[in-house]
Formats: sequence, C-alpha cells, structure tokens
Amino acid sequence: MVMTESSGIFEPAHIGGISVRNRFIRSATHEGMADTDGAPLESLEKLYLRLAKGGAGAIVTGYAGVLPQGRSSFPGMLMMHSDALIPAYRRLVEAVHREGAALIIQLAHCGAQTRSAVTGMRTVAPSPVRDRYFSEEEPMALTEQGIRAIINAFVDAAVRAQAAGFDGVQLHLAHGYLLAQFLSGYTNRRRDSWGGSLVNRFRIVLEIIVRIRQRLGHYPVLAKMNGYDGMPGGMRPDEAVKIAMMLEASGCSAVEISSGTVSEGLAIMRGPEMPTDALLKANNFKLDALPKWLRPMIARILPLISPESPKPYHLYNLEVASAIKKAVSIPVMAVGGIHTLEDASKTIADGDADFISMSRPFINDPSIVRKFEEQSQNASRCTMCNHCAIMIEKEPLRCWNGRVPHRA
Ligand SMILES: Cc1cc2nc3c(=O)[nH]c(=O)nc-3n(C[C@H](O)[C@H](O)[C@H](O)COP(=O)(O)O)c2cc1C
Repeated sequence: MVMTESSGIFEPAHIGGISVRNRFIRSATHEGMADTDGAPLESLEKLYLRLAKGGAGAIVTGYAGVLPQGRSSFPGMLMMHSDALIPAYRRLVEAVHREGAALIIQLAHCGAQTRSAVTGMRTVAPSPVRDRYFSEEEPMALTEQGIRAIINAFVDAAVRAQAAGFDGVQLHLAHGYLLAQFLSGYTNRRRDSWGGSLVNRFRIVLEIIVRIRQRLGHYPVLAKMNGYDGMPGGMRPDEAVKIAMMLEASGCSAVEISSGTVSEGLAIMRGPEMPTDALLKANNFKLDALPKWLRPMIARILPLISPESPKPYHLYNLEVASAIKKAVSIPVMAVGGIHTLEDASKTIADGDADFISMSRPFINDPSIVRKFEEQSQNASRCTMCNHCAIMIEKEPLRCWNGRVPHRA
C-alpha cells in the first residue's frame, strides 16, 4: 500500500511563495507548440488545460528562449524575448489558473546546444568548446558585453513573465544549455571573472537572480540544475551541492535537480532501449527505402555507436537531490524516473525532496496525478521508449509508446 497519507503528497503546499494544491509538478517539457514568433499555439493551451484538469499542482512550460540567438533548433520553441508576446501568454496563464494549477515559465538560452543554420546566427558559449551533438562549428566565446546582454535578456524575460501573470520563472541551469555551460568546468574554460573557480562560474547566474530581485522584489525565481553533468572535468555532485547553496544565498526560491547533457544521449531521459527508429526518422533516414535485409542490421548497429543510457532507470537523481535537500532550506524538487505513486510518496515521506517533478508520465497521460489520487492507477504507463524525446526534433510533442515512427 502506498504511503499517501503520511507523505501529504496530495495536500496543498508552497514552492517558494507559489501556492500549489499538491506536490506534483509537470517538469519543463519542450512541446513544439509555439508559432514562428514563439507565441503559444492553441494546441499548447489545450495540453495545459488537460494537465491542469488532470491534477498537476504546477506546470513548468517547455524551455522559452530569452534571445533569438539562444533559440532551440527544435521547431516550435516558446520565446520570451519580446513584449509583444505578453498578451498571448496572459491568456494562457488565465486559462491554466481557472483550472487550479500554477504556471511557471522556464527561461533558457541554448548557447552551443543549437544550430546556427536554424537561428541564422553563430552559436555562443562561455568558451569555444564544440558541442558533440549540435554544432556545425565551434561556438564563439562570449565577450564581456555579450555576457551582459544575456544577463539583461534573462532579467527582461522575467519582467515579461510577471507582467503576463506567470506564478514564477524557472532558470534553466541544466542539461548543457548556456547557463549550465557556464557552471561546468568542461565547457567553461575562461580565465576571467566568469570562469575558473566555482564562484566565478556561478557569477552569471548570481547576477541574473540579483537583478531579477532588484526589479521584481519577491517574485518566485526557481532554478533547474544538474546534480552532475557526466562530462570529463564537468560538474560533480559535490559542486552541485555548493551551487544549490549559492543559489539559496542569492535569493533563488526553489531548486529542481536533474542531470546530464543533451550530447550524452539518454542520460537526461534514461531508458532500457536506444530509440533507434526514432533516431533514424529524426535524422531524415529513409529506412523504408533500404532493402529489407539491411534494415535490421542498421537497427542493430545504431545502438552500438550511440551512447547507452546509464542505469538505473528510476529515481536516478534522488541521491544528489537528497544531498542538496540536507544542505539548503529552500524547497527541492526531484525529477528523473519517478514514475510510480509509491516512489513519489516515499521520496516525500523520507524527506529526500519536497516536490515530485515528472515529464514523461505526463506525456503519456496528462491526468496521471488525478489517477494516482483516485488510486485508479499507481504507476505510469510510460515505457521509457524515449521516442517522444527524439521526435521532438521534428514534430510537436506526443506519446509514441514504442510505436515505430516511420511506420506510424
Ligand atoms: C520530450 C521532452 C522534452 C523535454 N524538454 C525539456 C525542457 O524544455 N526543459 C527541461 O528542463 N527539461 C526538459 N526535458 C527533461 C524533463 O523535464 C525531465 O527532466 C526528464 O525527462 C526526466 O524526467 P522523467 O523521467 O519524469 O521524464 C524534456 C524531456 C522530454 C521527454
């Protein structure tokens, strides 16, 4: 039997000033449901209404770009770089609020993890370290002026988020995007005041938070960060604990603990099998055009040359989240393979985290929280096939649940 009563997982709570009806958060998930200006489409509102009606306490949007240069190469990214977007977001926020969920916007700059062919601009990063997955060329190392422009862009985006009625912003410091590139010793090789020591690598985040605080007072500013990034010489769990403490000291309202970088394949979204078919489809590989006898060979070779998913597949960020929880007093959100009611309840009851954040279980079923609460279902039916994560490079978010995309 699950420990729903002892953990209070369905009781109202606060995330750094945001009132939520329970402890389940829809983790930021790129939906590919924005128009070319980056404004939310009707399909996004429909999805958020399903999530809100389905019981999610709060929804964190897919990552929203703060500058065109930091836009994702995946189609349909939300943007928050212009005041012209505020009215469309206001309608979205009001719709979600009517259904009782809080809405937080995740703010991001992709840095080297995008393609200049899509943004029309050279990619930028703390140092000219070529990204193994995205970059056609070395990113340009940011100048002092470039860093200042990025800080301003994050602050201006937070001001717009408050004007649109969002309950808070979440800074994307995880998964190898620009702010994670600053925090990681692998991608940040600078020798000026923005690199070197952990304090220096953190400086850009500190300045963003302090400046948002100056402009917006107590407005909730959350952060999603890596517990480690898996890169050689990159961010380690002991550094992550220090970063969480620095986040708290700088005025951050809550931290969500993830891990990994996009170039590591299935490190962020783990799973038992390489989504071979989806990878071929996403790379415009016409499997059907090949002779029948060759297809199984290609499918067998691909997993051998792509990095395998690390293990375990469940609760994989909990150890670092728990270490961070012991070191800070702001709320800690755990994400990564928390796909059963029992695991969620135990995480809260054991004091390893204050909130449960999930992505793929909500892709599979936006009403999963209501089903957990009604006890009509106690585990997500997500098979961790990860087709959703690969196919997002081509088309809007959906659950594929192991179906072969090129024949679907
Ligand atoms: C399709 C897809 C899109 C994602 N987009 C984002 C994103 O925009 N920002 C982010 O921080 N994480 C993103 N993630 C990662 C998830 O938020 C989450 O950290 C990860 O999937 C592990 O949690 P889960 O086991 O509950 O899926 C995405 C994951 C998936 C599957």
